[in-house]
Amino acid sequence: MLPEPVTIAPGVFWWRTALDRAAQQRLVDAVFTLERQAPFYRPRMPVSGKPFSVEETNFGPFGWVSDERGYRYSTTHPQTGNTWPAIPEDLLDLWQAATSHPAMPECCLVNLYRGEARMGLHQDRDEEALDAPVLSVSLGDTATFRIGGTNRRGPTKSVRLQSGDVIQFGGEARLAYHGIDRIIGGTSDLVPGGGRLNLTLRRITKGRSRSNANAR
Ligand code: SIN
Ligand code: MN
Repeated sequence: MLPEPVTIAPGVFWWRTALDRAAQQRLVDAVFTLERQAPFYRPRMPVSGKPFSVEETNFGPFGWVSDERGYRYSTTHPQTGNTWPAIPEDLLDLWQAATSHPAMPECCLVNLYRGEARMGLHQDRDEEALDAPVLSVSLGDTATFRIGGTNRRGPTKSVRLQSGDVIQFGGEARLAYHGIDRIIGGTSDLVPGGGRLNLTLRRITKGRSRSNANAR
């Protein structure tokens, strides 16, 4: 199903063009359909309240949110107050094909990068289930992705993620610092209005069931 991944660093796997154009298109269509229920919005930095340059929404029983009160998971959209739409089946299939984790993901964070949007170096560490890997899908314009170790000031590696690429980081790399330095505009016509979508799948709670990803 998936080709052999490239190992960027211990625990960091990269499947180049894991998804063909039709599969990419299906995901983009799903995002913009579900986005009508859970609109993109701009999260804010903890404490300062400075708006992110990326717009975000979430699918699944939990959504990752950020505002003056800090980073956290929420079962509801901060603007509509509604629960998040279910994670598309294609993404659950991808999780099962790419990871050997026994439990299903409970959050799909959707990042929309337009224009100069970027994401500073950070760790994904708001999850209880740090034994589960992070699985991330790139759609649309090419991005410069940087990943290092668990020390913010340690050495990093940079790769160009293209539309359809999938990255996994888990095990010793689960808390690796990572970020998006920049998006190379005009490299893809996949995303309506231009730019890049990133879909990040994560398990939040410690649990064993493979079947309850979208149960609330
Ligand atoms: C993230 O770390 O939340 C996003 C990474 C990406 O856009 O590839
Ligand atoms: Mn992240």
